[in-house]
Amino acid sequence: MLRAIEFFQELYGPIIDRGGNMITTVTLNAAIDKTIICDEVERRGITRSREALAVAGGKGINVARAIFKLGGSVTATGFAGGHNGLLIRRMIEAEGIHHELLDIEDNSRMCLAIIETNTQSVTEIYDPAPMVKQEEWDQLMDIVRRLAGNSQIVTLNGSLPKGLGNDAYYQLIGLMKRSNPECKVVLDTSGEALREGMRARPFMMKPNKNEMEVLLGHPLSSYRDAIEGVNEVMGHGIELVVLSLGSDGVVFGYRGEIYRVDPLSGVEVQSTVGCGDALVGGIAQKIVESGDIVEAVRYGVASATSNLTSKTQANVRREQVEEFFRHIEVKQVC
Ligand SMILES: Nc1ncnc2c1ncn2[C@@H]1O[C@H](COP(=O)(O)OP(=O)(O)OP(=O)(O)O)[C@@H](O)[C@H]1O
Ligand SMILES: [Mg+2]
Repeated sequence: MLRAIEFFQELYGPIIDRGGNMITTVTLNAAIDKTIICDEVERRGITRSREALAVAGGKGINVARAIFKLGGSVTATGFAGGHNGLLIRRMIEAEGIHHELLDIEDNSRMCLAIIETNTQSVTEIYDPAPMVKQEEWDQLMDIVRRLAGNSQIVTLNGSLPKGLGNDAYYQLIGLMKRSNPECKVVLDTSGEALREGMRARPFMMKPNKNEMEVLLGHPLSSYRDAIEGVNEVMGHGIELVVLSLGSDGVVFGYRGEIYRVDPLSGVEVQSTVGCGDALVGGIAQKIVESGDIVEAVRYGVASATSNLTSKTQANVRREQVEEFFRHIEVKQVC
């Protein structure tokens, strides 16, 4: 049997030390992401999986993995507690991803994704979120303030643990803007945390279709609705709004102009889980590399497309991303 470190090196490639810290990702609700692949779940019976994989997860950790795999310099921070927290830390260390995860008393989550190949469907089951104490939140805010002082981009990803108010991201964005006004903040969350966080005007938001519908309070039934929705969010002072539409690609707005990126056809899909995180990671990495925002979104879609070809979250391959990047087009729509 392979030891953990060998397993991860086989899965992700050799550990490379890249100093510096250009991008920080924040995961307040880190998890062990377990994926089970089976033909079909036997309800009220025993299902024997064909394959089972477990990786460190939570959306910000996935974003950090995508950036790391694309050759970027990234630090993952957030909360990781209890026995699951120990394992999360050990797993991302084995991958070679730099982290400053804060140890908390309560146990981090295990999240289960069941891929049924007969129906090509994914079912996800999440443990309850851990409880965060006030002093743990205060410590994390100090870590984020310090890391933001040294980062070009900070991404805030995923749901909130228990014990924090819906304004948690609002608070983090405010303190980062004060500590480093040059730092670009990316917000990718849902529900009230997204609505509250938007008030602090992050540089970029990446809602998916469902998150955007909840934010706007009405369904997006057409392409025109999507464009109007992106415009509306830009109107709240968000410079870059990337609306991801799953197999329909991306509609994004940057400084008042709207663009669309269609997906590549003919890509063999292994799993769609983590596509949004690979998209955010690709965008962040290209912004640091080139500073060109439209090119960065195009690169993000290449990264999301590479994620489709992997069974685990945000396990993108750089050469494949570069290849997809050559074929993906951005069209300005208005
Ligand atoms: N089935 C698919 N075919 C082609 N491209 C896809 C597909 N699913 C996702 N993508 C690509 O990935 C991007 C992000 O996917 P999606 O909108 O599902 O994000 P998400 O819901 O935030 O995902 P997650 O939360 O699992 O990370 C899409 O905009 C698209 O470019
Ligand atoms: Mg998402």
